[in-house]
Amino acid sequence: MKTIITKSIKEAADFIVRGGVVAFPTETVYGLAANAFDVAAVAKIFTAKGRPSDNPLIVHCSDISQIEEITTGINENARLLIDKFFPGPLTLVLNRSKKIPDIVSAGLGTVGIRIPSLQLARDLIAAAGVPIAAPSANISGKPSPTTWQAVQEDLDGRIDCILQGEPTIFGLESTVVDCTVEPPVILRSGGLTYEKMAQVVPNIVQFTAKDGALPKSPGLKHKHYSPNAKVVLVDAKAVISPTEKAAFIGIEQQNSNFELIRLCQDKAEYAATLFEFFREADRKNIKVIYCQIIEEKGIGVALMDRLRRAAEA
Ligand code: TXA
Ligand code: MG
Repeated sequence: MKTIITKSIKEAADFIVRGGVVAFPTETVYGLAANAFDVAAVAKIFTAKGRPSDNPLIVHCSDISQIEEITTGINENARLLIDKFFPGPLTLVLNRSKKIPDIVSAGLGTVGIRIPSLQLARDLIAAAGVPIAAPSANISGKPSPTTWQAVQEDLDGRIDCILQGEPTIFGLESTVVDCTVEPPVILRSGGLTYEKMAQVVPNIVQFTAKDGALPKSPGLKHKHYSPNAKVVLVDAKAVISPTEKAAFIGIEQQNSNFELIRLCQDKAEYAATLFEFFREADRKNIKVIYCQIIEEKGIGVALMDRLRRAAEA
């Protein structure tokens, strides 16, 4: 299959309408979209990514009426979070209506929904005229793409189209919150911080493995975010003497004898550049990537989550 690369929203939307799969930018990471009501089209997403079929997809909407159509209703906690944080880097898990096919939800009774804040993303959904199911547009297990070129690197020849946009703003995926339970549970940390959500829903809790046997967000049990290089987490003060081709990313570092080094202004920049740095290191055939451990506050929670998963792999 030839992958068309375009800046035209109409051309990209036409592929979705005709049952194709299209990569598109959002404020978090690039997604891989198909018409959420079209089972055959959604199946193509799983094939293109090599994604396990037990991992549900987020459905991206352009407005509230689409959310009402695909859920059984918006409860009080969901309403509070939607009013304050939509559109934005937040996904809410709600009970799904019959309109959402099983394949989208991996057979669960729920559906993850979000309205992206990037205008280009909402324009694409509106032009397609249907909610779009979309995971991150990477080969399963690889870091999520934050540029259209990274999408091309993973999926060229496997998808119909890439809608070109700017590099993404947050660089980490959306925060996923289960609103079917009281209190709501953060299943995956992401672009929207716990601190901000707690201002609106004070009893919101972070999921921890000991809360239950299985993570409710099936994606959390799969291998994730890993570059080919080995990822090693280090303290700010650590003295590193690399013996192999090595890279460093963080905020402070005394040494400079790395093949590739990225010193960021702050946590937000660290989060925004991490996945692209992983890919750049792989392109340069780096063997070890040293990543600075940071304080788990604000966006630091999501960043440390991704770093730990990458280091485990
Ligand atoms: O920022 C994002 O969320 C990006 C952009 C493209 O929107 N999308 C994204 O999708 O990261 P994906 O598929 O790579 O990650 C979705 C996560 C997975 O961990 C999945 O298991 C979880 O959300 N999820 C989706 N639907 C769910 C549901 N009904 N119940 C529990 N978890 C769900
Ligand atoms: Mg993903």
